[in-house]
Amino acid sequence: KPIVLSAIQPSGSMTLGNYLGAIKNWITMQDEYFCFYALADLHTITVRQDPKEMRKHILDMYALLLACGIDPEKSVFFIQSHVTTHAQLAWILNCYTQFGELSRMTQFKDKSRKHADNINAGLFTYPALMAADILLYQADKVPVGADQMQHLEITRDIATRFNGLYGNVFKIPEGFVPKNGARVMSLQNPSSKMSKSDENVNGCVYMLDKPETIMKKFKRAITDTDTKVYFSEDKPGISNLMTIYGAVTGKTMEQIEKEFDGKGYGDFKTAVGEAVVEHLRPIQDEYNRIIKDRAYMEETWKKADAFAQNFSQRTLDKVMKKIGYIK
Ligand code: TYM
Repeated sequence: KPIVLSAIQPSGSMTLGNYLGAIKNWITMQDEYFCFYALADLHTITVRQDPKEMRKHILDMYALLLACGIDPEKSVFFIQSHVTTHAQLAWILNCYTQFGELSRMTQFKDKSRKHADNINAGLFTYPALMAADILLYQADKVPVGADQMQHLEITRDIATRFNGLYGNVFKIPEGFVPKNGARVMSLQNPSSKMSKSDENVNGCVYMLDKPETIMKKFKRAITDTDTKVYFSEDKPGISNLMTIYGAVTGKTMEQIEKEFDGKGYGDFKTAVGEAVVEHLRPIQDEYNRIIKDRAYMEETWKKADAFAQNFSQRTLDKVMKKIGYIK
């Protein structure tokens, strides 16, 4: 089977954007591919974290991803910081990554604007660690949201450069945005992506939000001065709500337009909220069960960590030998 790798940062709670944009596809890819999925907790400290909160977010995210349907019998679902090869290869790749190319990363530019008091070296070299995550597993495919595609491009560039110097060491991975992967925008500002760093709390829906909270956020969602529900670039708010509704119900945009023909925005927003609540209900129930079972979670990640360590070590050994390190 072709190899897939993807990862998510446990910096805060999982958003509906993460889920509809990425995680839902992780689940469906498990049968067709050999999947490595990671909690990218090394990436998380590029932004300052509170230790207690960080521990909670890692556990919550691990339990929630299991609840979403990551099946540890099928996929290797590990914790990045537990597998030593990631930081090791990241250092090496740092030395094969240029200052100029890192300077062009839009996420770095955005984040250094947002966290102007802490523009640390890790924030800058973040893509080299992400490249290590991917290249260690010789991944064929890397499913990501559109916001991560630039990091995939630099990963391919780093790998190609390395292979050019030392021969075929790395598989050149293909990044892709799954076609049913929704690009979910903020409910309060539909020109920016839904993100936990949204200044307006009503812009971002979290997977573990209570039903009342979810309903409230959808009812307050920004729309436009028109009254008709249809998909258009000129209607970013409504189009975003349609995307979300389509993603959780499986309905097409045409079906949705028909369903709400002659109805107002109020009815539409209520329907979207209800559909999201219903979709999340079984996931939240499962999360509540798993989060209480720390022993099960620990057993699951330990098995996956050991597998990932062993698998990735082969690539690291090869890289080090090629460069000229002795054993
Ligand atoms: P992260 O943790 O920000 O997001 C995880 C995944 O969710 C996608 N995503 C979205 N998709 C659609 N709409 C949104 N509003 C939205 N918000 C987030 C992201 O594109 C991503 O696919 N650097 C990565 C984590 C990472 C990684 C990797 C990914 C570390 N190593 C190796 C792939 C391969 C990140 O910060 O994603």
